Amino acid sequence: MIVLGLLWAPLLVGTTAIDGACDLSPWLQEEPVDKGYHVICVGDGEGTLYLNASAASRSVLKFDDSLPEFLEELLQIKTHLGFKPHSKRSSAVQWKKQSWAFFTVAGERWTPEEASSKIHEYDYRGVLLLFEGGTWRWPGIRVGYERPLQPDSDVILRTVALKPALFELVLQDATKGTIPELLSDVVQMSEKRLQRSLTEKEASEVRTSQQHWLSYNSHPKLKQLKKFTSEVLRLPSSYFERDLQVLRYTKGQLYDAHRDYWDPREFPDEERFVHPVSKTWNMRFATLLWYLRDAVHGGETWFPRAHGGPIPYGEWTACDDRGVKMSGRNGTVAILFYSLYSSGDIDTYSWHCGCPVGEGTKWAANSWIWNQPQSPPYAKSRTTKVGRNKDNRVSLAPQKKGATDDVAIES
Ligand SMILES: *[C@@H]1O[C@H](CO)[C@@H](O)[C@H](O)[C@H]1NC(C)=O
Ligand SMILES: *[C@@H]1O[C@H](CO)[C@@H](O)[C@H](O)[C@H]1NC(C)=O
Repeated sequence: MIVLGLLWAPLLVGTTAIDGACDLSPWLQEEPVDKGYHVICVGDGEGTLYLNASAASRSVLKFDDSLPEFLEELLQIKTHLGFKPHSKRSSAVQWKKQSWAFFTVAGERWTPEEASSKIHEYDYRGVLLLFEGGTWRWPGIRVGYERPLQPDSDVILRTVALKPALFELVLQDATKGTIPELLSDVVQMSEKRLQRSLTEKEASEVRTSQQHWLSYNSHPKLKQLKKFTSEVLRLPSSYFERDLQVLRYTKGQLYDAHRDYWDPREFPDEERFVHPVSKTWNMRFATLLWYLRDAVHGGETWFPRAHGGPIPYGEWTACDDRGVKMSGRNGTVAILFYSLYSSGDIDTYSWHCGCPVGEGTKWAANSWIWNQPQSPPYAKSRTTKVGRNKDNRVSLAPQKKGATDDVAIES
């Protein structure tokens, strides 16, 4: 037993974990901040599973036909996502989830059933990631962690917070490169077509900006931006909301703290949560917010709950020292945050607010990414409830002060 234990103990060099063919340091988490994310090192004949992407929790894996069943049992992978209502009166709701999946570190997606044969076919050695929600999600690793998007890329994804998973995109040289070029005309393309931003189809004081939905297909640069965004997220562009949302905030304009997902405990219309084709849990997964032009003062994006703080009830636009504040003023070209955990469950730490602009004008653009494909052939058969109202961010009203923040998951 001892010999076996030693054989399977990975060599730990400082914070760099190496297990045979695998450099695990870009993938293992120092804290279990994500739910439903696991790391596998594929070696010769066998592999090692790092449960919850933790170096401390390992199991031996065999790559044969029993692999999916073995993992489902060991990790207790849920087939449904369930929510307990806030009040005792309504009954619990649950949705079938899309299947979990493996991903190579290059982002290739393998279904549970095909993984073993792919490993043998490709003679695959190295790291495989397992996302219980079936969608690629960058692990934060630790605050300040820097990840070049490609080996020679001048674009870096820097971890700002683990709770929620919040990153900033920074450029090695802020004045050069692909992104500034791709974004250079976005403001001009949108300027004459701005309309009042809406919340759940209505204009309200919680959101006072102006906006325009810009089709990615309307300009070669936007097509490239879409492709680039897909590379940043490691997700196909079919997962994107159809258009890019361009926003302008002038002096005094703001957007109260909100989330980019809908909480099933606050919205009774169950259809909203179901993909019209796959019939599984369908939700906004990630937001890539591009900073196009900065206000002189104010206009930051405030994450009041970053690093684990409470919901700022009644202080939705306080924009104070709680959590973190992001803007384009310090070389950040964009921020990326996830609204869902790797399990598919909602991340209630992802509250954020567009702080009031003090002076000047802020321009920003949102790329919204869902947890599964949204674009045709699916778009046509989508019901009006799902997807037609593009601006249905969560309003604050339904969530009561003191409401529990726990999400119960049932199988
Ligand atoms: C993995 O994380 C889940 C919560 O996401 C927890 O319930 C489970 O006990 C953890 N397992 C191990 C082995 O740490
Ligand atoms: C920009 O950097 C300065 C100096 O490090 C810091 O004081 C400020 O808070 C940063 N601003 C934003 C919006 O990140």
